[in-house]
Amino acid sequence: MRRTGLILAAIGVMTLGMGAAFGAARLAEKPKHSISDVMKLAHGKDGILKKVKAGSASDAEKKELLDLYVSLTESEAPVGDAKEWEQRTAATVVAAAKVLVGREDAMKALGKATSCAGCHKAHKPKD
Ligand code: HEC
Repeated sequence: MRRTGLILAAIGVMTLGMGAAFGAARLAEKPKHSISDVMKLAHGKDGILKKVKAGSASDAEKKELLDLYVSLTESEAPVGDAKEWEQRTAATVVAAAKVLVGREDAMKALGKATSCAGCHKAHKPKD
């Protein structure tokens, strides 16, 4: 009787452990920032992109912009072609990285990669 109890307890612990492991895997796949949050934080009225373009962003803010754009690559496109989304979001990451390391063509890359209308036309749901 005691043995059955132990075995049942062991199975219980194993099941819990597996559940936790799967839960952690799912969580890791979630984007760090939702697209909506990235838009607000990076592209809002007082967003980081404006500061970067004005040349008044700190290194910490440039890093945050990079982190936000990496999050875009972790989200699926709400609408539009998946491959195109991959390319567009990858371009924002490269541009923000160029800004952070001070590449000469950083601003040009950033301007091109962050075209609001271009990406919205392709991937923003119509409301
Ligand atoms: C790489 C693609 C991409 C670029 C570049 C982009 N956006 Fe977006 N934006 C999106 C998508 C996709 C949504 C819709 C998100 C959703 O509905 O989940 C969105 C939504 C938004 C929203 C609504 C956020 C909300 O949920 O409240 C604002 C505001 C916004 N974008 C501003 C901008 C501005 C300003 C720029 C240019 C400086 C810009 N975006 C550039 C993809 C992009």
